[in-house]
Amino acid sequence: MDIVKIGILTLSDRASSGIYEDKATSEIERILNLYIKNEINYCKELIPDDYDLIIKKLIYLTDEQKCDLIITSGGTGPALRDVTPEATEAVCDKMIPGFGELMRFESLKFVPTAILSRQTAGIRNQTLIINLPGNPKAIAECLQPVFPAIPYCLDLIGSSYIENNEEVINVFRPKKKC
Ligand code: MTE
Repeated sequence: MDIVKIGILTLSDRASSGIYEDKATSEIERILNLYIKNEINYCKELIPDDYDLIIKKLIYLTDEQKCDLIITSGGTGPALRDVTPEATEAVCDKMIPGFGELMRFESLKFVPTAILSRQTAGIRNQTLIINLPGNPKAIAECLQPVFPAIPYCLDLIGSSYIENNEEVINVFRPKKKC
């Protein structure tokens, strides 16, 4: 089984300056460890919502670290400092809007404010980049519906082969409010 390299890029002015604890990074890692059977090599970065810095880190994680997959968290909303989707688009060769569409659609079952997330996904070289909102609760809510498409997408772009933990993906569903 391939060793999969995954970048987790967490964007938060407040968490990166120590005003509050970053809970998103460990939640992403927890969910990915449940969903993926392969050994995973993580590259984790926690930075402020700075457009140039996000671009620099995304390029570092794709071109230098050669991550198969990058999950970003935070900075997808409408606030002035929320620029993660723009930075993602700036570094990608191709966008895959279906990821954002499905995550918003499924998230609306949990929170009516899900439409405020402009989250998207795209490909740079052989790396798939997926944006998630910053709320730690949103991580499972967003990853669960899109996860089955990730291994096939990585296969199509010639990246590492991921073995899904199918039983966990099907059984592990976040509790719905409505
Ligand atoms: N999606 C899910 N699944 N769960 C959530 O709690 N929060 C929403 C939305 N999408 C949320 C969600 C809210 S309140 C906002 S403002 C946007 O994501 C953007 O969040 P971000 O700026 O932290 O990325």
